[in-house]
Amino acid sequence: MVSKEQVLEALASIYDGEFHKSVVELRLVRDIMPKDDRVNLTFVLTTEDEHTKQQYEHDVKEALARIGVETVNLRFRMITEYEWNDLQRSVGQNGEGSAAGAVSGQKDGSQGAAAAGRTPATSPSGAGLTHYIAIASGKGGVGKSTVTVNLAVALARQGKRVGIIDADIYGFSVPDMMGIEENPQTEGDKILPVEKFGVKVMSMGFFVQDNAPIIWRGPMLGKMLKNFLTEVDWGELDYLLLDLPPGTGDVALDVHQMIPASKEIIVTTPHATAAFVAARAGAMAQQTGHEILGIVENMAYYTNRLGENEYVFGRGGGAKLAEELHAELLAQIPLGAPDNHAAEPDYSPSVYKADTQTGLMYQEVAARIVEKLA
Ligand SMILES: Nc1ncnc2c1ncn2[C@@H]1O[C@H](COP(=O)(O)OP(=O)(O)O)[C@@H](O)[C@H]1O
Ligand SMILES: [Mg+2]
Repeated sequence: MVSKEQVLEALASIYDGEFHKSVVELRLVRDIMPKDDRVNLTFVLTTEDEHTKQQYEHDVKEALARIGVETVNLRFRMITEYEWNDLQRSVGQNGEGSAAGAVSGQKDGSQGAAAAGRTPATSPSGAGLTHYIAIASGKGGVGKSTVTVNLAVALARQGKRVGIIDADIYGFSVPDMMGIEENPQTEGDKILPVEKFGVKVMSMGFFVQDNAPIIWRGPMLGKMLKNFLTEVDWGELDYLLLDLPPGTGDVALDVHQMIPASKEIIVTTPHATAAFVAARAGAMAQQTGHEILGIVENMAYYTNRLGENEYVFGRGGGAKLAEELHAELLAQIPLGAPDNHAAEPDYSPSVYKADTQTGLMYQEVAARIVEKLA
C-alpha cells in the first residue's frame, strides 16, 4: 500500500494551467485515502471546463499508475468561494473581498490585471494557503478559548502569521483573555483586526457596548461570520483559528459549511462525562467531512507543592476521546493560571509566557500542528 506522502509526491508533477503551480502546492488534491491497492482522493476544480477535468483525470491516474496504484477513486468538486479567495491570496492575486495585495505591497496595476484576466502571478512572499482551524468543545468552561488564544500565540511565536475569529458570539472572551483594550479601526470599507502578541483578532466583543447582552437571530449569526471572513482585512495569514461556541449548534454548523477546508481541534477536560459530550462535537466534524487534528485535554491535573500530580477532575477523558475519534491526543495541559501581573507592559490574563511549563506545552502543540498541516 502506498502512503499519502507518496501520492502527494507523485501528483506534485501535475501543474495547474492557470496558476502555473503544482496542484499539490495549490492544495487542489484533498482527502487522500490509500486503501489496499486503491487510492481515494478528491480533486478540487477551479474551472468548469470539461476538457480540463478530463485532462486532470488522465494525469492523476497516470501519475499514480507509475507508483503502482491500480485503481483510483477520483472525486471532483468545484472550488468554493472561500477556497477561491484563499487560493488567490496565496498566489498573490487580489480576488474579490481579498486585501492581500494591500498588505503584501503589490502594485495596483498588477491587481487590476489579475482581476481582469486572472493572469497568474507569484506571491511576493511565497505565501502558502491559510489553514483554518476550528477549536470546538462539547461543553463550555473547559478551556476552549484559553487553548485557542495560547495556540495562536504559540504559532505566532514560531513566526507564523495568525488570526483568531472569536466565533463564540454569546460568550465572546478572546479580547479580554488576551488583554486587548483597543477597538478595531476601519480603513475604507474594511475592518482592521486588532493585533496583540503578533495575533490578529476579530470578535463580536469589539462591537458590544458595556457588555450589554446581544440578541441575535439565526440568520444574523451566519452573516456575522461571513462578515468576519470577508469584510475584515486579514492580510496574508498562515493560520486562522476559530473559537467556536460550545456544542453542536448553528454557528458550528455554519463554520463547517462556510469553510469546508477547516480542520478541527477538540478541547475536553479529563472527566469521562466531559469527554463523552465532546465526542458529539467530534462526530459533527467527522460527519461534515472535517479532519480532526487532535484533542487537547485541559485541566488534566494539578501539580501540588510536593511535585505530585493530582487528578482532581478525573483522568483519561482525553485519551478516551482520542481513541473514539481516531485522533491524536495533542497535549495534557495542567491546571494553573498564568503567572501574569497587571503592571506588566504586555499584560494578558490568559496567555502563558513562552518559557513556562504550560507555555512550552503550547509551543509543542503548535509545532505538531505545523508539522501535520505541512
Ligand atoms: N489549564 C487551566 N488552568 C486553570 N484555569 C484554566 C485553565 N484553562 C482554562 N482556565 C480557566 O477556566 C475558565 C474557562 O476557560 P475558557 O477558556 O473560557 O473556557 P471555554 O472557552 O471552553 O468556555 C476561564 O476562567 C479560564 O481562565
Ligand atoms: Mg470560550
